[in-house]
This record gives sequence, C-alpha cells and structure tokens, in this order.
Amino acid sequence: MNSIKKSYIETFGCQMNERDSEIMGLLLSDSDYLPTEDIKQADVIVINTCSIREKAEQKVYSLLGRLKKLKGKKPSLIISVTGCVAQQEGKKLQARMPLVDIVLGPQQIYRLPELINKVSVKGAAQLAVGLSPTFEIPKYAPPSPAETVTEEEHKDSPEPAFKRFVTIMQGCNNFCTYCVVPYTRGRETSRAPEDIMAEITALADQGVKEVTLLGQNVNSYGRGHDGSLKYITFPELLRKVSGINGIERLRFTTSHPKDLSTELIDCFAEIDNLCPHFHLPVQSGSNRILKRMNRKYSIEDYLAKVEALRQVRPDIALTTDIIVGFPGETEDDFMATMDLLEKVRFQGAYSFKYSDRPQTKAVSFDSKLDDQVKSERLSILQSRQNIISLEENRKYENSVQTIMVEGESKNGDGQWSGRSMSNIIVNFAGSVLVPGQSVNVRITEGLLHSLRGALA
Ligand code: 5AD
Ligand code: SF4
Repeated sequence: MNSIKKSYIETFGCQMNERDSEIMGLLLSDSDYLPTEDIKQADVIVINTCSIREKAEQKVYSLLGRLKKLKGKKPSLIISVTGCVAQQEGKKLQARMPLVDIVLGPQQIYRLPELINKVSVKGAAQLAVGLSPTFEIPKYAPPSPAETVTEEEHKDSPEPAFKRFVTIMQGCNNFCTYCVVPYTRGRETSRAPEDIMAEITALADQGVKEVTLLGQNVNSYGRGHDGSLKYITFPELLRKVSGINGIERLRFTTSHPKDLSTELIDCFAEIDNLCPHFHLPVQSGSNRILKRMNRKYSIEDYLAKVEALRQVRPDIALTTDIIVGFPGETEDDFMATMDLLEKVRFQGAYSFKYSDRPQTKAVSFDSKLDDQVKSERLSILQSRQNIISLEENRKYENSVQTIMVEGESKNGDGQWSGRSMSNIIVNFAGSVLVPGQSVNVRITEGLLHSLRGALA
C-alpha cells in the first residue's frame, strides 16, 4: 500500500522558531511528507520548542503528555522534539519522555529528514544536539512559487504569503544573566549578505512584499566568529535589502539597546520602506538591576537612544520587553521601571515574571522574590501599560494610515484586517480586497491592541 505520508508541526516561542519551523516544513515536503493541520493524521509530528521562560517550557511537556495516547494507537508515529528545550535537555528528554524518537537542537534542524529516515529504518531513537562555536547557517533556497503561494495554503499558514521572515544571524554572545539563549542557540553567527540578498530577491520575485530580518541581536550582524567585522554592518545590510525591487515594507527584530548605533538610527530617516516600528527590549528601569542582568547600558543611555529615534522618525512606534521580579528587585527598582513606562510611553510592552532558567547565572543569585510579589508587580505594570497603550492607539484616531491587507477579519463580520506601517493591527470595512494590497484607511477608533477604521 502506498499511502501519502503526512507531517504536523507545532511551534512554540519566538519568530526565530517560526522561521525554523517553516524551513523544517519545506524540508519535509521535499521528502514527500505533506503538511496536515490534523495532528491525528500525522505520520511525523515535530514539536519545535521554546525554553525562554518556565511557562513556555511547561507547555511543551503538557503537549508531549497528551501525545502518549496517539503514539499508543499508532506505534509507527515518529515524534520529533526540536528547538531550545531539545537543546537544553538532550538525552534527558528521551529518558523522561520515551515516546520521543528524535531530539534535535536549533543548529541541527537541517538534518530532520535524515534522522526521520534513520528512525524508520533502524527504529532507534536519534539525538542531534551538537552546538558548534563556528556554526554557519546553511544556504537555504526558498521554494518555488508553485509550492508556496496557493490559495489553500494562504488561509492556513500563520503568516500571509506576501510576508516572510528571513534569518540574517542567530545565536547570542551577550550572556544576560537571566537568559538561556546563549546555551540553547549557541554563539552568534551571521549569514553572508549575498545569501540574504539572494533569498530576499527570490522571495520578492514570488510576490513577497514585506520582509522581517530576524536574529537574536540583529544590531550586531556581520561579525565573524572572532568578533571582528566579517561582512557588512547591519545598517549597510538594511540599505542593500531596502533596494530590492518589490519589497514595500522592511522590518527587523530583535535589537539590543547597547548595539543600537547612530548609523542605524539614521536609517529611519533615510530608508523609505523601513517601517517606523522598533522593538527595543529594556528589561528593567533600574540601573542597579540592569547591571545585575549584565545588560551593559544605563537607563540614561536607553532614553537617549529613544529620543534620537523619535527625533528622526516622530511616528516611530516603540515596543519593549520587561522582566519583573528579577532576583534582588526592590520596591524602588520596580518603581524605576514604572517610571520608565511614563517616560517612554511604549506603544506596547511584553512583560514577564522572572523565572530561573537552567545554566544561567541568575539561578545562583540570592534575594529571589516570592511568586506572589512577582505576580502583584506584573499586574500593576500591565494595568498601567494597558492604559498607556490605549492612549497611544487613540492618538491615531482621525489619521489616515497605509494598511497592507492581510485578509478578512477573524471576527467574521465582513471586515478586513491588515497592519499599519508601525505594525498595529487595523480592522476596517471595505469591498473586495486582495491580501498584500496597500490601502489608505482613516482610523476611527484606537483600542488596546488594535485600531478600527474605514477605507479613506
Ligand atoms: N525570566 C523571565 N523572562 C525572561 N525573558 C528572557 N529570559 C527570561 C527569564 N529567565 C524575557 C525577556 C526577553 C523575552 C524574549 O523573554 O524579556 O526579552
Ligand atoms: Fe525561545 Fe529564545 Fe529559543 Fe526563541 S531562541 S525559542 S525565544 S528560548
């Protein structure tokens, strides 16, 4: 019997992981595993995991627990765990979860088809968690248009076909004391500009209009393994990419404030298709805590960079990440973070309770805070930020924004949904529109997480 094989991929965590899942999906399609949305139909299940915070990791284990029944019914099912939990746990993961056939670290995802083959032939579990300090991201040719841009796939894929992520670097050399990334994704490594240009040019040829350049710290793009500049700088890369025909919107994420240069700030004044949105994780408003976090900037440095960005691009929307309850955080330290919210007035903030992560320095720090204190601080911070976000979104009322249409709004109310240049979701009434089309929308109402409007 020659039945069609199916694969199912579940992704946790960051955009880096989403891109890795896309790549694994393409590798699986090349090995004749068609994607399915129904986990029960799958012959191969890939769980691409995140271990950035305790909560993210717990979600992975609870999904694995739920898969036991499925594997019991279908012993030939191959379960693969990839990403940061795989890297971190390695062999221990297979010992704890014997249903897992393949454990694959973030630098090893390209070997997925090979290892699936080994499991099918030998029946033995496979482990690949090598993390090389001189790892190079392989060239990856994007698929041909016929493979990606079908109407059917549009609907189900997490990102519309006109929007793509492109990895430009991965890994991290910064060693913030709370962060697991240097241990799970290894040292920083940048892709050659020619590879990046070729990938984006091919994407543009397929009709992609918006590209987000991805890396753990894109601002330090271009360095070789010895830390010296090997390629070109990030601002130079941005200028090159912005000139590719067909790329209407250019974004990037994530940035470390210490590496945000004046050259990069100038890009916002000079590059037309560079979108006015900047995600600049601050983590804390207290210099004492920033020091304990090993962030290598002060709040004064941070505020000066925010000011400089707003000087060149007054319409820039700033978002950030904040950790509350870092070991040793006093009431005064927390108040300094609250004060920062007032000074910057972020358009949005992702905020988290500190959690211990394996191998990180902060695990051994004293003065850990009670969970209750962390929860209280998180809720105070989020309540205040929600008010600020709403106020900031209301400032768009009566303005006309260029919206790139993503599709019909999920509410099923016949509305359309898209994003502004500053990356805010906008829902609006309109006639027949095409995903990827740019339209002018007059904003009628600013809400907490989105805007409402009407075609202008
Ligand atoms: N505890 C809580 N939040 C964390 N983050 C990273 N590590 C931790 C941790 N140990 C947050 C940071 C980072 C975001 C991706 O996750 O705010 O910017
Ligand atoms: Fe999570 Fe960080 Fe790994 Fe991304 S790199 S999946 S955020 S732990």
